[in-house]
Amino acid sequence: MSPSALVTNIGELVTNDPSLGDGSPLGLLLDAALVIDGALIGWVGSRADAPAADSVLDVDGAAVIPGFVDSHSHLVFAGDRAEEFAARMAGRPYSAGGIRSTVEATRQAPDATLAANVARLMSELARQGTTTVEIKSGYGLTVADEARSLAIAAAFTAETTFLGAHVVPTEYADDPASYVDLVTGPMLTAATPHAKWIDVFCERGAFDADQARAILAAGIAVGLQPRVHANQLGPGPGVTVACEAGAAAADHCAHLTDADVANLRDAAVIATLLPGVEFSTRSPYPDARRLLDAGVTVALATDCNPGSCYTSSIPLCIALAVREMRMTPAEALWAATAGGAAALRRDDVGRLSVGGSADFAVLAAPSYVHLAYRPGVPLVSATYHRGRRTA
Ligand code: NIG
Ligand code: FE
Repeated sequence: MSPSALVTNIGELVTNDPSLGDGSPLGLLLDAALVIDGALIGWVGSRADAPAADSVLDVDGAAVIPGFVDSHSHLVFAGDRAEEFAARMAGRPYSAGGIRSTVEATRQAPDATLAANVARLMSELARQGTTTVEIKSGYGLTVADEARSLAIAAAFTAETTFLGAHVVPTEYADDPASYVDLVTGPMLTAATPHAKWIDVFCERGAFDADQARAILAAGIAVGLQPRVHANQLGPGPGVTVACEAGAAAADHCAHLTDADVANLRDAAVIATLLPGVEFSTRSPYPDARRLLDAGVTVALATDCNPGSCYTSSIPLCIALAVREMRMTPAEALWAATAGGAAALRRDDVGRLSVGGSADFAVLAAPSYVHLAYRPGVPLVSATYHRGRRTA
């Protein structure tokens, strides 16, 4: 039998199980406890009713929330683009072309350098309460560099995404059609053993609708599941392509028509919003209120990458979503936990109810609301993944 641990004296417990507690989507319980049974949640309820366990952790009235599910990141890269950021803050606009400078640095880096960088960022994520993270390739853009990027990512997470279609690399600038053939042919073959998902940056300056359709179809044909970088920098066909393909999520969604919003709702495609990007590129935020009011399911993620958004902090994204995108604190927390899980088609994470993964964060605060109320303050005092402390 695996050892059990009772986590008790929880002032406020967010379960994301509406059948528990206050009956809201957050399934909020006050004066609560939970039991970790090996890697899973074995029991959840009132502190007064808690069963005995092998050990006891008293959190002294703190809030406990499901671990964050960061469903969109680009952690496999070398170098940084601090100078590009500084130039942008001095007035230069963001463009997809900056990706190529990270591609150059990534191709030159040994595997150990790339892996050490991912490990460093994973530790940052854990310290900020994240317990599940999706990691994309997309800074290699050769067969060998995409395959090794995914092999490195797969050592850290089951949620790996092949993004050979991030941008057309310089050596194919005059012949993008041949690059699409490479992505859908030998590169896909080399990537598939290490990937769960396939993604494409469908945007002016990256891949158009027909290229994106061909790339997603090739991935689906070999068993990868689709997700799309859609409508980030301007209006365009990304959301349409994502909905046609049955994507789990359309990510960014900063420039949507009414038809795009209706399409996301009707196709049950999650809209993943990445407000760290708009913050870091000084761009208009996506209209979360419009999506939520239309009945679209929204996820929040970091997009952690060296170009458009170099933050690993879901708490920052929650604060931005609440302050800048008119989400309520409850909606933002749900989007960064259960919403992220939905965007990864996972039902074992993003909730704290019996049978789910024992993935949670203990806050140095009496309520999850403090994540938005106290922006920039390191409020995560401990993180547990599969019942074990990771930060
Ligand atoms: O999600 N949109 C495309 N890719 C990244 C940006 C990557 C970069 O600038 O290096 C993003 O924002
Ligand atoms: Fe991205």
